[in-house]
Amino acid sequence: MICAAMPVQTAVRIDLISDTSTRPTLPMRRAMAEAEVGDEQRGEDPSVNQLCERSAALMGQDSAIFLPSGTMCNQIAMATHCQPGDEIITAAASHIIGSEAAGAAVFARSVIREISCCRGVFSGEDVSAAVRPRNPKSPRSRLVEVEQTNNRGGGSVWPLRAILSVTEAAKANDLALHMDGARLMNAVVASGVSARDFATPFDSVWLDLTKGLGCPFGGVLAGSTDFIEQAWTWKHRFGGAMRQAGIFAAAGLYALDHHVDRLAEDHVNARLFAERIAEVPSVVLDPIKIETNLVFFEVKETGLSAKDISDQLLKKGIRIGIESAFRMRVVTHLDVDRKDVEEAAEAVANIIAQY
Ligand SMILES: Cc1ncc(COP(=O)(O)O)c(C=O)c1O
Repeated sequence: MICAAMPVQTAVRIDLISDTSTRPTLPMRRAMAEAEVGDEQRGEDPSVNQLCERSAALMGQDSAIFLPSGTMCNQIAMATHCQPGDEIITAAASHIIGSEAAGAAVFARSVIREISCCRGVFSGEDVSAAVRPRNPKSPRSRLVEVEQTNNRGGGSVWPLRAILSVTEAAKANDLALHMDGARLMNAVVASGVSARDFATPFDSVWLDLTKGLGCPFGGVLAGSTDFIEQAWTWKHRFGGAMRQAGIFAAAGLYALDHHVDRLAEDHVNARLFAERIAEVPSVVLDPIKIETNLVFFEVKETGLSAKDISDQLLKKGIRIGIESAFRMRVVTHLDVDRKDVEEAAEAVANIIAQY
């Protein structure tokens, strides 16, 4: 059965809807086929164990756990850190607020206090201001969450000084710290700051394999040995404990070796797209703000809606994201090159010019 909302994949030649649309490369598939495997649930899969050890070291943490998705990494982290009735402090643009089906309320049974901030990046002062005084009427402020890079903030990189200001304020207020590192490696490549420097101040942090790294599956959540032990209980509860998952872990290991440095190309392509689109009359976009592989732009002044433009592009085999009625998103990745991005930008410009 084909779901009605499912786009017809075969018609799409240039897919800029997300960095999750990558398909495993041939060498990655070979690495997967040749992976040593075992029963992951029993801790017996050598490839999974290797991926976890390597990811924990990369992020400066003691231990790590392999999970099926980034969403599960966030959900398990929040459920592990929080008790029912706790409060989680994060940017209003965060993925955990808008795109995880209120999982914080369902699993961690906690509420979220959002900070309105520019591009999804807040400060230690914002954290201190959001912490509630301890009294029987208020939720207990418990966890601060940082999204590196911030997706809906425009792929913005949290500068290390902002991270340090937030982590210092959180520690002063006895709060735990969690980093959604869906695009942590994009931040690393864009800033030159190591994953370890970005991640060590956090009590938990994860890395998505299925975004810029180009894997078909999984995320790796890291933290202290004690935190990861508790996370294993949640993994079982969620039905996320696996068997011969080494096939997927091998893709992750391959990506860490071969797909990190090349993220710089995605950033160059995103900037190129942004520069081309910024020249189109009535499109609102500031190319200076393109820091990584995400490009958001507004089309209201063109007289066309985001859906109008998307529909026209799809006829040409080009897919870009509709964020809202007049807001669009383009994401560059491993499966699109400079030529594709130029073609997509030109197509958007022509559609608007013809209208
Ligand atoms: C910032 C951020 N966090 C979490 C996720 C969830 O990751 P997954 O799709 O692997 O569940 C995404 C996915 O787009 C994301 O962009």
